[in-house]
Amino acid sequence: MITADQQALKKMAAEKAVNDYVKDGMTVGLGTGSTAYFAIRRVGELVKQGFKLRCVATSEATEETARECGINIVQLNDVDHIDITIDGADEIDPNLQLIKGLGGALLREKIVAAASVLEVIVADESKLVQHLGSKASLPVEVIMYGHLRTAYALKRQDCEPVLRMKGSEPFVSDNGNLIYDCRFKEIRNPFFLESAIDTIPGVVENGLFLNRATAAVISHRDGTVTEMQRRE
Ligand code: A5P
Repeated sequence: MITADQQALKKMAAEKAVNDYVKDGMTVGLGTGSTAYFAIRRVGELVKQGFKLRCVATSEATEETARECGINIVQLNDVDHIDITIDGADEIDPNLQLIKGLGGALLREKIVAAASVLEVIVADESKLVQHLGSKASLPVEVIMYGHLRTAYALKRQDCEPVLRMKGSEPFVSDNGNLIYDCRFKEIRNPFFLESAIDTIPGVVENGLFLNRATAAVISHRDGTVTEMQRRE
């Protein structure tokens, strides 16, 4: 359960990132999730103040929130690049490597991140981990056809894949696919794991975001906000 305090922390990180990074005239990628939500709201305020922004959404939920905030949404195919994307994360390691996708939008989030000059992550300190996989499961998006076979192949990567449900039915992503949340005891080599997962037939995308984030704006319970930068 998200407490009022956690909400305030998410808002603090999200608003600082938008205030520091979003400039008039930019093309902005809008992330998905409860922290990115506050970034979208802040972008909406900038638009009301007169900023001319073109925004690309990473999910249908984000597109709906953005429209409610008066933000002009354009499709990714209609822009040649994105200046900055502000998105959340489920885990952030000391090298700014991430697990994302608890909100189910990992595929579009990764495509948008790849099209972005800057990928700025917003999160509260509870998302910081020493090793990826220590708290969160790794979401893997798979096509419906033969998904039990795909899950079997995932299990051979030394994890416990659990089909994500929404009530009594499988959760279906914006792209019409299923998600397996894969619980690892430990992810020793995320780069190796990413390639191993990506070669499994039926896998569409995985939630490892490696060398994708350029910075992370992190809010802390003591009221401070710090920033991590990717070391090249
Ligand atoms: C959405 O698919 C995710 O990648 C989110 O960005 C991530 O789960 C973080 O979400 P919260 O900000 O809600 O924790």
